[in-house]
Amino acid sequence: MSANLSSTSKIIDTILVLDFGSQYTQLIARRVRESSVYSEILPWDIDEKKIKSINPKGIILSGGPDSVTESYTPRIPQIIFDLNVPILGICYGMQTLAEQFGGQVISSEFKEFGYSELKVKTDSILFSNLNKTLNVWMSHGDQVQDLPDNFDLLASSTSAPIAAMQHLTKPIYALQFHPEVTHTDDGKTILDNFIFKICKVNSDWKMDDLIDQRIQEIKDKVQNSKVLLGLSGGVDSSVTAALLNKAIGNKLICVFVDNGLLRKGEPIEVMNTFKENMNLNVIKSDSEDIFLRHLEGIENPEQKRKIIGRTFIDVFDAEANKLKEINFLAQGTIYPDVIESSGSESKEARVIKSHHNVGGLPDEMNMELVEPLRDLFKDEVRKLGVELGLPKEMLNRHPFPGPGLGVRILGEVTKEKTTILKEADYIFIEELIRADLYKMVSQAFAVFLPIKSVGVVGDERRYAEVIGLRAVETVDFMTARWAHLPYDFLEHVSNRIVNEIEQVSRVVYDISSKPPATIEWE
Ligand code: XMP
Repeated sequence: MSANLSSTSKIIDTILVLDFGSQYTQLIARRVRESSVYSEILPWDIDEKKIKSINPKGIILSGGPDSVTESYTPRIPQIIFDLNVPILGICYGMQTLAEQFGGQVISSEFKEFGYSELKVKTDSILFSNLNKTLNVWMSHGDQVQDLPDNFDLLASSTSAPIAAMQHLTKPIYALQFHPEVTHTDDGKTILDNFIFKICKVNSDWKMDDLIDQRIQEIKDKVQNSKVLLGLSGGVDSSVTAALLNKAIGNKLICVFVDNGLLRKGEPIEVMNTFKENMNLNVIKSDSEDIFLRHLEGIENPEQKRKIIGRTFIDVFDAEANKLKEINFLAQGTIYPDVIESSGSESKEARVIKSHHNVGGLPDEMNMELVEPLRDLFKDEVRKLGVELGLPKEMLNRHPFPGPGLGVRILGEVTKEKTTILKEADYIFIEELIRADLYKMVSQAFAVFLPIKSVGVVGDERRYAEVIGLRAVETVDFMTARWAHLPYDFLEHVSNRIVNEIEQVSRVVYDISSKPPATIEWE
């Protein structure tokens, strides 16, 4: 039976993405979702019944790392053609289409990765409303050398003379380049042309439908069992918690570890949001003392990170052991966290070996994973959070590192330093919000420096702590530019910190970009 029901139980149109292992497969599905059309990814070798049950209105064949010049590599199963719905092959999808229809594919000497100029040669619905010349993104080693029988050439690029093709009588189309990546000019229009003009689907899918679908999947998987979730207050674990709460109510048990290294007010905020307002089953583990004890005398950044990670696991494990009969562990893993390529195993349950956020849970915690956000991107997770009723302030918060203030206090971590840093950080963030600058920067925070400096207050000499302020602008957090915050603003923040925190005599602003610096100081 088709499971593609909207929130109003209407059967909705589906575009099936058949995965041949490309790093961009999830992006194809995401682009389709952006057009409010439901999209499902299945591995290329999934069984026939499953494909039929989805009853797709159109099929997109993804790219993949293999070469159709090798006989053992994946091919499009016959059922895909038997369904008689439009097909769009992308990269490997195009090559295997060409080969299966009698064309010739060769492994070219020059692998092509990057921009290429595409010239559209033949009018086609696929390229409607587009210029005749487009910059497209190529990523391939093989290419179609001879058109298969009954195919027309649609477009060429300098290095790929057959860069797009179309069947003469059937709605089968193929592209050598990747329309799903933003580098391709009008790639979204090409995909929209395929889904709306060729497959004629309705754009009748909403985030609500995804919520309903995920809830059903969670229910089917966990049945009556209890599920444990490590709640950090970050976006991903919060959205996972809200979703699971809708699905299984109080069978979800959240453990929130207050390690004393969180931002000022955060533990209360997290508990208020989830326990008081959302009525979630949250256990708060007050573990500041344990963390501070383990960190005593430790100055090396890597060692501090390891100790914090290990202590987190110990605390979480101890809380989990107090609870009985828990078979599932929920995680807020999102697509960028998924290291392995998407495909056949992406939704399969696996026994836990490691946890990307906390650095490895003990093997003896033999629980199955529930990861309902595993195929979503960060901005989609935020939208889901809004639909689930999470406060916007929580969803739009700057990222916060797992080891927390532990890596923002340079050198040994002590209770006194965490107290000072929390205050300074709070002032900085409060002022950014007031000045409407918070959303303009990607991440901002205060750092406790391991030096003292001389200051003067009234007639008194003050030999006291130095606070660093850091604010960066970035898209992907891999590279970042220091934020050019207004001098007046910085002056105001500096004055407040020095006046309101007795132990601080000086404030400095970090003007290093990444690289060569990193965003965090440790
Ligand atoms: P860096 O300092 O490497 O930080 O430029 C890049 C981004 O990652 C965050 N970060 C972490 N996040 N666990 C996390 O969950 C960590 O151990 C960790 N270290 C850094 C950092 O805040 C920034 O957003």
